[in-house]
Amino acid sequence: MDRYVVFGNPIGHSKSPLIHRLFAEQTGQQLEYSALLAPLDDFTACARTFFQEGLGANVTVPFKEEAYRLASSLTARAQRAGAVNTLSKLVDGSLQGDNTDGAGLVRDLVVNAGVSLAGKRILLLGAGGAVRGVLEPMLAEKPASLVIANRTVEKAELLAELFDDLGPVSASGFSWLAEPVDLIINATSASLAGDLPPIAASLIEPGHTVCYDMMYGKEPTPFCKWATEHGAKLVLDGLGMLAEQAAEAFFVWRGVRPDTAPVLAELRRQLAAG
Ligand code: ATR
Repeated sequence: MDRYVVFGNPIGHSKSPLIHRLFAEQTGQQLEYSALLAPLDDFTACARTFFQEGLGANVTVPFKEEAYRLASSLTARAQRAGAVNTLSKLVDGSLQGDNTDGAGLVRDLVVNAGVSLAGKRILLLGAGGAVRGVLEPMLAEKPASLVIANRTVEKAELLAELFDDLGPVSASGFSWLAEPVDLIINATSASLAGDLPPIAASLIEPGHTVCYDMMYGKEPTPFCKWATEHGAKLVLDGLGMLAEQAAEAFFVWRGVRPDTAPVLAELRRQLAAG
């Protein structure tokens, strides 16, 4: 049986095995997909052992940068992201690193939610790995502007410099921003602590601005609550991005694109029941 895994630490609550099992059932692909806990100091050895037999792996926190270094070749989007969430064993036995996070986000916005990014004023909150992972696919959609705002402004400035050959990207502090934008994406980890990045409510034009949180939970995240309270046109959480980055990885491995809608509905149902 063709074997795939997701590596992480912790990994117990990963939804990837369920998602890929549902994709495999839906597309009639014969494969096995499980979760593997890699020791914090031993990801590389674990991955090498797995790939003696295995064909592909997803990689999640905290190993995406290590996976980037492990891969012997990288796709252009993984190279730009500086991180790998999808490893594939090529026919010559070497490991190729890819990053499907940005494609997943863009697909969730553009295809699932019908929110075109072309010509839009976009604000990205945060400047960590989550932001770096999505910048190239987002800029490829040709927004009018893409502002990266971060608590530590220097990190936003570094990212803006790193990507400014790809489009109109700039950096900002949270408090410098007041003018409404078309789309706000929260890619900070503030929600994990029940926090909200300190941004002005005037950034939302009621009935117009779309707000997206890369995080998700049983209850709306603090950012999603804030967006709803201030009249955002559409408020989305990151469950769709999770399903779409998985579908993109499945496509990379199997050459078949699963339909994410029924899988996302099942994830939503389990989250609500959880
Ligand atoms: P990830 O890989 O999820 O992006 P990360 O690299 O640790 O994780 O980055 C976390 C991001 O969330 C950073 O942009 C961080 O801001 P700093 O660079 O200033 O540390 C941001 N962040 C975390 N907690 C936050 C909070 N309470 N308010 C605002 N931003 C926060």
